[in-house]
Amino acid sequence: MLELQNVSKSFDNLRAVDGVSLTVPRGQIIGLIGPNGSGKSTLLSLIAGNQQPSGGRVLFDGHDITRHSADQVFNAGLVRSFQDPSLFFRMNVLDNALLPVKKQRGEQPSQAPLHRTWRAEEQKNATTASTVLDQVRLQTHHAKLAADLSGGQMKLLELGRSLMGAPKLLLLDEPTAGVAPALAYTIFEQIEHLRRTQNLTFLIIEHRLEILFDFVDSLYVMHLGKVIAQGSPDQIADDQTVREVYFGE
Ligand SMILES: Nc1ncnc2c1ncn2[C@@H]1O[C@H](COP(=O)(O)OP(=O)(O)OP(=O)(O)O)[C@@H](O)[C@H]1O
Ligand SMILES: [Mg+2]
Repeated sequence: MLELQNVSKSFDNLRAVDGVSLTVPRGQIIGLIGPNGSGKSTLLSLIAGNQQPSGGRVLFDGHDITRHSADQVFNAGLVRSFQDPSLFFRMNVLDNALLPVKKQRGEQPSQAPLHRTWRAEEQKNATTASTVLDQVRLQTHHAKLAADLSGGQMKLLELGRSLMGAPKLLLLDEPTAGVAPALAYTIFEQIEHLRRTQNLTFLIIEHRLEILFDFVDSLYVMHLGKVIAQGSPDQIADDQTVREVYFGE
């Protein structure tokens, strides 16, 4: 579903991402871990078109999407969430969730006055959003301004909004940061459920390894911009280099 070939990104003298190659097979949940500043979020930005790589290639679902713009990548079915929630804070929760729905007729100036042409579509989208908000435990907060949510709830809304963009592949940057542990586990159960029932594919950055390791098919570990290990949760937990750089052992 996703293949990176030797992808790099430099900021002045810093090689934030340094020749990363990895693959995310269709229908799998792949983890991406590493110490702070190892280049994980930058790598997601390079894949999603928020930043342009200095070198290498990004292939998505059989197409070369290297240097495609963020909206082109989104329209192709690759949706990301952000480490720091990137919401429309002065819009309510439901409207935030409805925003990424593609090709909304009521949003076109020529169609907007003709309610009858898009009312049913809007109702269908609202019903879908309602189900998604329920999955991320935000249904009772649907009318609140996004700015009035807690930090954890903002992360959950980011996740819900990502799901509304009809994704094939989701790139999630610390989806449960700031979320209480029991709820974080539930969110990962939802992710697993979505993978199974909707054949979605996930690449997930997460610092809570005790949760992540229960759900991923395999993991990549980054350090100083490079991939230093790849394998199953058991292999990664036993890898001496990983233990040194990641756990400080
Ligand atoms: N726009 C930028 N300009 C300059 N340096 C940057 C920029 N974005 C990231 N960096 C640097 O690149 C390195 C990698 O940052 P990145 O945010 O990708 O790390 P990360 O693995 O996501 O870390 P964390 O776990 O803390 O989120 C860091 O040293 C960071 O300071
Ligand atoms: Mg990060």
